[in-house]
Amino acid sequence: METKVLPFDVNSYTLGVAFCTCFLSWVAVKRYRTEAKEESLHSLPPGPPKWPLLGNIPGMMMAGSSSKYLSDLVSEYGPVYTLYMGPRPVVVLNKYDIMKQALMDGHLLSDRGDLPALDDYFKGRGIVGSHYTEYWKNTRSFVIHSLRQFGVDRQSFESVIASQADILVEDIRKRGTFDPLLCLQSNVCSVICGVVFGKQYNLDNPRFTDLLETVYKALRAIEYAAVSSLVPGLHYLPGCSYQKFYACMDKLMRFFREEINAHDETLDPDSPRDVIDMYLSKIRRASPEDPTYGLFSKTNLEFVVNDLFMAGTETSASVLYWAILLIASNPGIQERLQKEVDDVTTHCDHVSIADAASMPYTRATIDESLRYASVAISSMRSTTSTMTLGKYRFEVGTWVMLNYEYAMFDPDHWSEPKRFKPERFLDDHGQYCPDEQLIPFSIGKRNCIGEKLGRMELFIFFTNIIKNFELVFPDDAPHPSVEAATGGMMRVPNRYSITFKDRTTTAA
Ligand code: HEM
Repeated sequence: METKVLPFDVNSYTLGVAFCTCFLSWVAVKRYRTEAKEESLHSLPPGPPKWPLLGNIPGMMMAGSSSKYLSDLVSEYGPVYTLYMGPRPVVVLNKYDIMKQALMDGHLLSDRGDLPALDDYFKGRGIVGSHYTEYWKNTRSFVIHSLRQFGVDRQSFESVIASQADILVEDIRKRGTFDPLLCLQSNVCSVICGVVFGKQYNLDNPRFTDLLETVYKALRAIEYAAVSSLVPGLHYLPGCSYQKFYACMDKLMRFFREEINAHDETLDPDSPRDVIDMYLSKIRRASPEDPTYGLFSKTNLEFVVNDLFMAGTETSASVLYWAILLIASNPGIQERLQKEVDDVTTHCDHVSIADAASMPYTRATIDESLRYASVAISSMRSTTSTMTLGKYRFEVGTWVMLNYEYAMFDPDHWSEPKRFKPERFLDDHGQYCPDEQLIPFSIGKRNCIGEKLGRMELFIFFTNIIKNFELVFPDDAPHPSVEAATGGMMRVPNRYSITFKDRTTTAA
């Protein structure tokens, strides 16, 4: 009998249909679930009630301190909430874990919010205010590379900072009792001058003091300009215009242009003397085939130099200013530090970075100063693509504020956060024990490019001060507060005076 051959096998046909049905059902269910989940995602977390047009700016001003306002909102709305800066919503992230999740997810938070006052002037140039562009990526990595080239993150740069520390110690010795802020700023700024201009300066040079003063004024004026540009039209009102900020910036730019032109005239591309020379050599060697062709220019360089000064001077100087205040307020800590510093310098005059390994208490005190100072209070970023955080989904271009100060004083992580306790960075054996949650330089793809330089400056300046002086408050004035001054973009203490008692003459 002839067997009828069917065009397909019944069993495999049934199986095939069953498989396709299951697969399609699985796809449909998955899609339904994803859609349902996406629908349940909220675009913005809740936050405090807002005023029309002004948003939460009046609330913040009425609270007297924006830090207190922001941290009080954590108790009410949790660690992620929405504030309105003028009509614009800003998602505020307050705790380390949440910030880490967002900051370590590639370039998700690598953009900056667009503030007209800054965008109109900077036009995307420089590093700090630049948007998430090829220009920013290339400029940032080139500057990091240039800093490395000059050994800024290696011990070879130590001698530059050490010689500046000697000048700082002499400056202090001459004055005795005084407010050390300007002295710290000038010595820190001079280190940046060494890296960028290839020469260091001191306070006797009027051109340098003018530069310092203008950097200081520009940093104050930028705050007003930034706030004015949050509310549309506000900058037309008297006292709210951007002009003061622009005038300071014009003056700084003129100064940097002169330095850059002088470098250009004497440039030897094969033997760069500093960061300016490295950048100018890059421009001279550029060819149209180079993928970064056109991104590097002398005008852009002015803005890069400006950023290194603006971001690198007041930050390190303010941490040192905090550290001196906190050490003078805690004589027990000071005594322990002096002992450790004296022990490692029994046979030499200077503390060097290599000594750090045998100075756990000093390192712990510097970390605690960075935590307590928390000079970069917060920063404003913007999302580069859609971002999901817990049950929220933020569209591209959402402004996100990183509240570093909250993370540094978070009572859920730091016991007695308002107490200055270096021991929190020591283990049970008295060894230095860094804490992942200490992020004064931020983390992720847009973190501080000067962290290594900043840390090196802090260590060398601080240990030399401790070695040479006993820090005490003058008898004739009340002890200054260790609370932060209110207002301002940086967290700084109120101005104070201090007596630097010379330990070297006391010992003799
Ligand atoms: C103790 C000293 C310092 C502290 C606490 C500090 C802190 C910070 C923080 C928190 C950021 C990230 C801001 C953000 O979230 O967007 C930052 C960025 C930056 N810092 Fe520092 N900084 C210090 C020293 C320096 C120094 C010495 C330099 C210069 C060599 C420098 C150059 C910069 C630049 C250029 C950026 C912008 C990076 C970018 O946007 O891609 N900083 N700094």
